Amino acid sequence: MKKTYYVTTPIYYVTDKPHIGHLYTTLAADILARYHRLLGDDVFFLTGTDEHGQKILKKAKETNETAQALADRVVKRYQEAWKHFGVEYDDFIRTTEERHKKVVKYFMAALIESGDIYLSEYEGWYCVPDEMYWTESQINDGKCPDCGRAVEKLKEESYFFRMSAYENQLLDYIDKNPNFIQPQTRKNEVLGFIKQGLKDISVSRTTIPWGIDMPDNPKASKKHCVYVWFDALTNYISALGYLDDKTQFAKYWPEAVHIVGKDILRFHAVYWPTFLMALKLPLPKTIMAHGWLTDANRKISKSLGNAVDPIELANRVGIDGMRYFLFREFTFGQDGEYTEDILYRRINSDLANDFGNSVSRVISMIIKYLGNEAIDVQSTLAKPSSLRDVANQVQKDYGTYLDQFLFNKALESVFTILAEISKTIENSAPWQLAKSSEPKDKESLRDVLVHCHESLRIASTWLIPFMPLSALNALTQLGCNTTSTDKPYRWAESSLWGKGPTSVLVAKGSPLFPRLEIPKANP
Ligand code: MSP
Repeated sequence: MKKTYYVTTPIYYVTDKPHIGHLYTTLAADILARYHRLLGDDVFFLTGTDEHGQKILKKAKETNETAQALADRVVKRYQEAWKHFGVEYDDFIRTTEERHKKVVKYFMAALIESGDIYLSEYEGWYCVPDEMYWTESQINDGKCPDCGRAVEKLKEESYFFRMSAYENQLLDYIDKNPNFIQPQTRKNEVLGFIKQGLKDISVSRTTIPWGIDMPDNPKASKKHCVYVWFDALTNYISALGYLDDKTQFAKYWPEAVHIVGKDILRFHAVYWPTFLMALKLPLPKTIMAHGWLTDANRKISKSLGNAVDPIELANRVGIDGMRYFLFREFTFGQDGEYTEDILYRRINSDLANDFGNSVSRVISMIIKYLGNEAIDVQSTLAKPSSLRDVANQVQKDYGTYLDQFLFNKALESVFTILAEISKTIENSAPWQLAKSSEPKDKESLRDVLVHCHESLRIASTWLIPFMPLSALNALTQLGCNTTSTDKPYRWAESSLWGKGPTSVLVAKGSPLFPRLEIPKANP
């Protein structure tokens, strides 16, 4: 039986084109989706855009267009960016789509019916950029405790969700499912928040006319729209076709892994699960909160004016270089200080030197010493070697690390293969062995080169999720790119030592990663 895997990104606000922080979240999900496809799992990878609410309306006023026109324009920038970076999602949901709106309406009606949502009045301090109400004691000097921007006093008739009723059930669930919220430090913060006591939460707005209508109610004095966060969170279910395709929903939903930034963890780890509990639906399997990419220790963001345009950067350093760097340099659960200098150096040292050079060096030696013809590798690969031991170890570690979102550790483990290749070449000196006419030396030469080749084949396979284009290019040069004959990505089994093609013909290609000229620092 195939395993199923459902991975999601947050849905992005359509206020502006994506920056490197949004790319980071999306690539993480893409890497996980590609890894699971490689294992042969049945994968569903969802991303999309969050198109309702005050933020969008405000931006549309500034740009002098309707909110829908703004959304239609900006959504394209997201889709283009994801395509550019090789993000292979299975579905892209927009919250202005009918298929989404009908599920939100259905959920709201169901919870009004069950009494979990009721009409009352709300007064509080509202942070417009965060779309979030705060109490008097939470705000600092009239500023939002989360983003530090000024809050406004708002009073409105509102629908409330009885979140308080689910506090114990949520604590119990978190306790019984230790991997539900990751990493541990963030989970502790969430637990701290819940233990202060969950209050009922406002789930509608009368002041913001851009959203999904609440169900008609003669008792309501005004027209209500669904609060944008409850609208947005529902995307994870509406995209699976909850009302129309129960089979698809039942198949993927319980396997859901939500990748989110730490700034939006509370919405995902408190509001969303209690909402699902009220709806009597299963909870997602895991919510993983990653850290921020920072610039001088401040979150990189459009509003702070320090956003990095990923497409412009990729034009200079390459798509795969960026994909690699973002997941090798930083620990996913923690913040990471982004600098262009480190990016360039990483690409040169790890990719141009360690990976690219290894591939071209081993291929050149195979052609020079073993001849430019297909080699039968099976009998040679049956022999023991330190390379085989290292590859077998990576085989175990790589998946263990990725299952824990330790992307950098998974990459580090793949690079132990490249280090072992370099060591083996230095120690065995193939150029010396090639000078000898002894049959024993000829055999050693062949063993070393075939084992180096096999090691590169395995390393390249595990690099596919991170750097699909370059890893497949390396496999082509190694004579092992089976994508055209085999089903793409069904490679978990063939990634084992000795389980690749029995006969290989290498072919030298252009360098995988040309060395980058490191730009002079700005004065
Ligand atoms: N629309 C909401 C999410 C709703 S999900 C049901 C939202 N959108 S967002 O566009 O503001 O941000 C989306 C994601 O981008 C968040 O996970 C956020 O953490 C991430 N990032 C934005 N800037 C970032 C960095 N500088 N670094 C890393 N990720 C950051 O929130």
